[in-house]
Amino acid sequence: MESTLKLLIKKLTEIFSPSGYETDIRAAIHDEVKRLADDVRVDALGNLIARKGKGSAKGKRIMLAAHMDEIGLIATHIDGNGFIRFTGIGGIRPLALTGSRVRFVSGVPGVIGADRITDPGRAPTLEQCFIDVGASNGKDCPVKVGDVCGFERPFLEVGQRLVAKSMDDRIGCVVLIETLRALKSTPHEAYFVFTTQEEVGVRGATTSAFGIDPHLGLAVDVTGVGDTPKCAKMEVSLGKGPAVKIKDAGMLADPRVVDWMIRTAEKNGIPYQREILEAGGTDARAIQVTRAGVPAGCLSIPCRYVHSPSEMVDERDVSNAVKLMTALVSGPAEI
Ligand code: CO
Ligand code: ZN
Repeated sequence: MESTLKLLIKKLTEIFSPSGYETDIRAAIHDEVKRLADDVRVDALGNLIARKGKGSAKGKRIMLAAHMDEIGLIATHIDGNGFIRFTGIGGIRPLALTGSRVRFVSGVPGVIGADRITDPGRAPTLEQCFIDVGASNGKDCPVKVGDVCGFERPFLEVGQRLVAKSMDDRIGCVVLIETLRALKSTPHEAYFVFTTQEEVGVRGATTSAFGIDPHLGLAVDVTGVGDTPKCAKMEVSLGKGPAVKIKDAGMLADPRVVDWMIRTAEKNGIPYQREILEAGGTDARAIQVTRAGVPAGCLSIPCRYVHSPSEMVDERDVSNAVKLMTALVSGPAEI
């Protein structure tokens, strides 16, 4: 440990704020940005919006977005013995469930078990899993139907890499906070938006983009990698730089924005990768298709094991993402 960057990553990833329940993470981020921004507000869907700069003749109204929610589970039924059945909030992978530990937003911890599996070669489905919070019957169960939990997993350093339960997308929030910290001045009216409910369909970004009405939008989120054994083919690796998104399942990034990002990276000697993600999307899509349309792109942090309780990033990619975002927002946006 030591670096302030790692301390911030640890602090933000260990907070439990699944989609729709972003109160705790919003308070922590508000604490970080209040001294760095010119103005901070929260909108009706809970998006935290920090403005920097007033704009100028050379500037634009820019929206930068990172989502602060995380995937989680929501209790749907509690049986007479106090076992909790649940459904997912966001893209839950059943493979990673049994043996996982969870923590409800109320603070109650629990573990995930599963019904007896007749075919040991198959992972249990969501319906076959349950949460055990140590209750002995339905009445003393401290969890009610509708209560929400996130995965319990402390931040961990593994060699050069950093592992946590919600790198998606607290790492993007860290990049925006550190960009705000590093930004000396900007010709733009720049809105740093920490969005809600991304994991259930980019809902916070949809309303905040409409409200801000930007000329240009950039999201910061994680992306998959192609550098682990027998994984799907993908030209992105951990440690080779942040990735400039060209396409994902939800968006074709505006080629002018892609060029601007790549030119800025090359001019500043910042390593970068070219990203095509075949499944998944980001807040950038919501910005791109708001109102009459907005040129939009996305800077991605390469991440292994996305949507598992142990998501892994490389610290150098995070630092380089901060450098690139800072360079992008410091100068005029030539697109
Ligand atoms: Co996600
Ligand atoms: Zn994400």
